[in-house]
Amino acid sequence: MSKVDGIERFIRPSLTALQEHSASKPRNINMENIIKLNANENPYGCSPRVLQAIAAYKNLNLYPAGSQAELKRLIAEYTGVNAENIIAGNGCEELLDIVIRAFIDHDDEVIHCTPSWDMFDIKTSIYGGKLVTVSRNPDFLFDVPSVKAAITDRTKMIVIVNPNNPTGTMNPPEDILEIIDTGLPVVVDEAYVEFSGGSISKLVNKYENLMVFRTFSKWAGIAGIRIGYGIFPAKIAAYLNKIRSPFNVNVFALLAVRESLNDIDYLINNVRTIIEERDRLFTNLSKLKFLRPVPSCTNFILGLVTNGSAENINQKLLDKRILIHTPNIPGWGLSLRFGVGKPEHNDAVINALQEIGEEMDIN
Ligand SMILES: Cc1ncc(COP(=O)(O)O)c(C=O)c1O
Repeated sequence: MSKVDGIERFIRPSLTALQEHSASKPRNINMENIIKLNANENPYGCSPRVLQAIAAYKNLNLYPAGSQAELKRLIAEYTGVNAENIIAGNGCEELLDIVIRAFIDHDDEVIHCTPSWDMFDIKTSIYGGKLVTVSRNPDFLFDVPSVKAAITDRTKMIVIVNPNNPTGTMNPPEDILEIIDTGLPVVVDEAYVEFSGGSISKLVNKYENLMVFRTFSKWAGIAGIRIGYGIFPAKIAAYLNKIRSPFNVNVFALLAVRESLNDIDYLINNVRTIIEERDRLFTNLSKLKFLRPVPSCTNFILGLVTNGSAENINQKLLDKRILIHTPNIPGWGLSLRFGVGKPEHNDAVINALQEIGEEMDIN
């Protein structure tokens, strides 16, 4: 173990080994005119009504409503639960920070089915919890018996991202119900559920151990404003309300939620187009001999590289001004995750990959 001295002696030990998140590091890429498909963002942007409301807003001298009363009411209407079940956050990233703080003490175990979104792992480590990873099946669905086998008397939480990032795969509700039946606190992250349907969020009133995370970042195209929420049993929500900062959600987020929901048909139509484009992109990616796309329930597609080097393919995509994400997938190594863009973006991806396949002689 490395010796820690100086001011670092006072930093919490769980932080000394922690790596800076890749998204926090500066990127040495000229972002001008790039086709940006690396962060599962909505290529159609937000509702024009959101932009108008923000431009017209005058009261920046006033704090937001600390109670989140209107936000909770609006989100409750959208999701079909009660306002007392909702806690809004600065993106659902903040919600998961609050939830881990509420549940996880030193050495408590958090089970996470990987490969998946790494933010749960990072937060668990920050607060001194112990991450227990359970590998997903070869088809990237989580395996209920494997999750149950990983439970010990230190298990405090089971996390399931469904649909999953970066694989795009989704387990059926029966599998989630079996995990809920363990009685342990279960977090189901449904950040992408608007692209799949099948949310289990209404079940929070039936199961005292179920927590569901959702966000406006993806379907409503407001990732930059940072507004996510959790749907919790009322008892858990009351605890989380004590932990969150009263002004954790800014005034623009409230306007953006209000106007997004006022313009829901427009936004859902964009979601429909993204789903159609996802299926078209999948069909085209399937035609490439060097790539195996994983069927997706989200707004992105994971491509497993079956021939050639993923690093080289990614570099050549970058040379052609296409930015994607390259997660490491156990058993496959570096892989290519393509956000679904507008039709012209997806055409550019397919054309670029065809050219790269020829250049590298891998297609
Ligand atoms: C599974 C998952 N949950 C949550 C988020 C982030 O949500 P938010 O923007 O609300 O913090 C992401 C973003 O990529 C994600 O992949």
